[in-house]
Amino acid sequence: MTDKLIIFDTTLRDGEQSPGASMTKEEKLRIARQLDKLGVDVIEAGFAAASPGDADAINSIAKVIERSTVCSLARASEKDVRAAGEAIKPAKHGRIHTFIATSPIHMQHKLRMSPDEVVTRAVQAVKWAREYTDDVEFSAEDAVRSDIDFLVRIFDEVIKAGAKTLNVPDTVGYSIPLLWGERFKQLIARVPNSDKVIWSTHCHNDLGMASANSLAAVMNGARQVECTINGLGERAGNASLEEIVMAVKTRRDVFTCDTNIDTTQIVPTSKLVSSITGYPVQPNKAIVGANAFAHESGIHQDGVLKHRETYEIMRAEDVGWGANKLSLGKLSGRNAFRTRLQELGVVLSSEDALNAAFARFKDLADRKSEIFDEDIQALVSDEEVTQLSEYFRLVSMGAHSETGTLPVARVVMSVGGKEHQADAQGGGPVDATFKAIEQIVKSETELLLYSVNNITSGTDAQGEVTVRLAKGGRVVNGQGADTDIVVASAKAYLNALNKLDTGMDRAHPQV
Ligand code: KIV
Ligand code: ZN
Repeated sequence: MTDKLIIFDTTLRDGEQSPGASMTKEEKLRIARQLDKLGVDVIEAGFAAASPGDADAINSIAKVIERSTVCSLARASEKDVRAAGEAIKPAKHGRIHTFIATSPIHMQHKLRMSPDEVVTRAVQAVKWAREYTDDVEFSAEDAVRSDIDFLVRIFDEVIKAGAKTLNVPDTVGYSIPLLWGERFKQLIARVPNSDKVIWSTHCHNDLGMASANSLAAVMNGARQVECTINGLGERAGNASLEEIVMAVKTRRDVFTCDTNIDTTQIVPTSKLVSSITGYPVQPNKAIVGANAFAHESGIHQDGVLKHRETYEIMRAEDVGWGANKLSLGKLSGRNAFRTRLQELGVVLSSEDALNAAFARFKDLADRKSEIFDEDIQALVSDEEVTQLSEYFRLVSMGAHSETGTLPVARVVMSVGGKEHQADAQGGGPVDATFKAIEQIVKSETELLLYSVNNITSGTDAQGEVTVRLAKGGRVVNGQGADTDIVVASAKAYLNALNKLDTGMDRAHPQV
């Protein structure tokens, strides 16, 4: 008999707290749809009180997601809980996740509250949340550094107030597996009615042990793991969803529980999150890294060819590798294109957007012999999926570089419907292109990140460029894809400028 292990994905909330990983509403919707397809049980869609934009994103996700539970985070205050309650209202299954810090250091220095006041606040927050939904989760922030007797007391009180899930976070990534497992064993043994609630673990990766700690909690009774795609998250990140899910699946001999995850969707989800957030996946990252299933040494290759299990504990195709599926060809029509987009979960904002994307597909098919699903996804620009304003739009461009001379670029772009042209020199063609754009735009932004990834393999592959720009304390990521990486770079730069043009300020949940 195996128990169910609930997978609570917080990519859209804790993941979004990674510097520069903030996402637009439409980007969040795209990821939420993919998380639903992946089979996560709970999607923590954001922190409603952070900003009207966050509340709107959670609300939009709550309207469209049918299978997964949609959750909003809320500090233990009436304003936060009510904002969360309103945001999740349209959800078929909605959850409010309220939290307050319980460690002496947080209570004294951050909250400036006595332990009694913290208990009162926690109980009150759970009661407010229960006015909106029966599905209420309570977290004791910094539980790792909290006194166990105090944790037993506060958990006992919030169960009485109506909390159904109790989350024990290692907020600062301080624990080690043996101690984290022991903490769960003790809490479950000592908290009255502990068998009436779900115990949850939420681990950060500051010492590189987030996944190991989460699994130790599972071995000691936790039945919900809070995690993120690619381990994205505050500072060193959170436990990686892919590591948790595949550990439980691969080590059936050790774990007495299993998840609802469709593991073949892991790699496509990882790629989507990486491309939207601009956080590349390191090649040697477990499960989703490009080398995770590559065998370099001759001895290993020979072993795998003779008998796969000699060096492989999982099959690449089981986690979605090799899904580099030939998608459409040069002769495919508009209907086939539309159907493939639907199958990939891409929803375009209008018929015009579909026509524009189809025209780009035809253009790409002339330049690239094989078109893969990843190419199709990259073809569909942010502007079309997101209805983001295209205040800045690339009309045409050219760049020239030659050994012994300074590269030059010419950019023709539209700014609010009016065409401008500029020429610039730079250290390389990308630098010259950005300088030409800046001559026109004069954005006064700071370039924080520039990265290029090939979408598929081969020298005719599309390059996907991420540009991270900062201005006045706001940070945005822009993406662009093209078989010409200088053109992809210009598109990414303009995409980021368009996002800065429409952004909103937001608060941080732990402040
Ligand atoms: O790390 C943490 O403690 C959190 C809580 C809000 C659950 O993210
Ligand atoms: Zn966290």
